[in-house]
Amino acid sequence: MKLLSLTYQRFRNLDAVTLEPSAHATIAVGENGQGKTNLLEGLYLLATLKPLRANKLSELIRFGEASAKVTGRFLIAGAEREIAVEVIPGGRTAFVDGKRAQALDAYFGGVSVVAFTPDDLAVVKGGPDGRRAFLDRSVFNVVPAYLDESREYGRALKSRNKLLKDRAPMSHLQAWDATLAKLGARLWVRRRALMESLVERARVAFQRIGRSPLEAQWRYQPSHLGEGLSFATASEAELCERMLLRLDARLSRDVERGFTSVGPHADDVEIALGDKPARAYASQGQSRALVLAWKVAEIENLQQHNGFLPLLLLDDVSSELDPERNAFLMGYLADSGAQTLLTTTDAALVTRAAGADTRWYRVHAGKVEARASLSPAP
Ligand SMILES: Nc1ncnc2c1ncn2[C@@H]1O[C@H](COP(=O)(O)OP(=O)(O)OP(=O)(O)O)[C@@H](O)[C@H]1O
Ligand SMILES: [Mg+2]
Repeated sequence: MKLLSLTYQRFRNLDAVTLEPSAHATIAVGENGQGKTNLLEGLYLLATLKPLRANKLSELIRFGEASAKVTGRFLIAGAEREIAVEVIPGGRTAFVDGKRAQALDAYFGGVSVVAFTPDDLAVVKGGPDGRRAFLDRSVFNVVPAYLDESREYGRALKSRNKLLKDRAPMSHLQAWDATLAKLGARLWVRRRALMESLVERARVAFQRIGRSPLEAQWRYQPSHLGEGLSFATASEAELCERMLLRLDARLSRDVERGFTSVGPHADDVEIALGDKPARAYASQGQSRALVLAWKVAEIENLQQHNGFLPLLLLDDVSSELDPERNAFLMGYLADSGAQTLLTTTDAALVTRAAGADTRWYRVHAGKVEARASLSPAP
């Protein structure tokens, strides 16, 4: 899979522009607040239909406009395809070769992207919601159906929580439980499978990056699942049955608090260094190395799963890493051969990822212009 061109229309602060990315590194350089992240956000939306950082997709529409559009031409399995997403307030529409895409799977066939942003670097030290979102992005990359599955779960959860808050009769509540448990068990199985395929790779990657004698470990931590069930080996049906039981067992507590306390939305990913929780004990450099290791594992996993490398998006990550970890990352990018879009405020930080075929863009006040090179003189 290769991205051949990328066109932005009425997207955030970006003037209408078409980029022609390199088959390897494309580097956008600009000062703060000029539109660098917006560039990556457009490509991320195109590849995942999900926002990279916006809370609402309508934030992506340029101020004063009625819609925004991003269009990409891709080479997928030897054929050129045009993929586009149009955002209007309250909705978005995807197009493949000019036709509205009906099934999500058809839309996603062959496009995958791994993004790496400064927000990701905070995941180890932050709250469980950040780690869940982080994990979910990885699951979604391997299983496109997960987007719909997790949305459905979210809707069922919202309905149940509303009933809890309204102190609705038990019978109404219990009517939701079967649905919620069925959807919840599906999310558990998806997340568990992803963790199984990633954890060992991430552990090895951490050794390569970390320069740390400590072992890194990631473990999925389901909340309030009760005793006597092995999460690692239970079948989907068993997980569903257990969730139903636990929803019932915690009902009075949940009514009191007005929200549902069991299910994938309440879980966490435990990250450990040696025998200590990384959240409490890892240094900033170690935390970042843990995130980097996870991303490397994800890239390798996707390559194996899809048979090609994902597109990589790196949003000004270099300025957040110490020189050695940045050198590892830039070397990794150059060696991997992946198609990469990097942004930076300082071109000197990313020159190791650049090669003869690198495309350089200068981003200033929403204008994106190609330059022969922005690489600083050695
Ligand atoms: N919907 C929108 N319409 C027009 N402009 C927008 C919209 N959303 C954001 N902007 C503008 O985009 C600019 C920020 O762009 P972006 O976040 O891409 O900057 P950046 O180059 O990544 O900066 P930094 O280096 O600080 O991360 C801001 O000036 C902001 O006001
Ligand atoms: Mg930015």
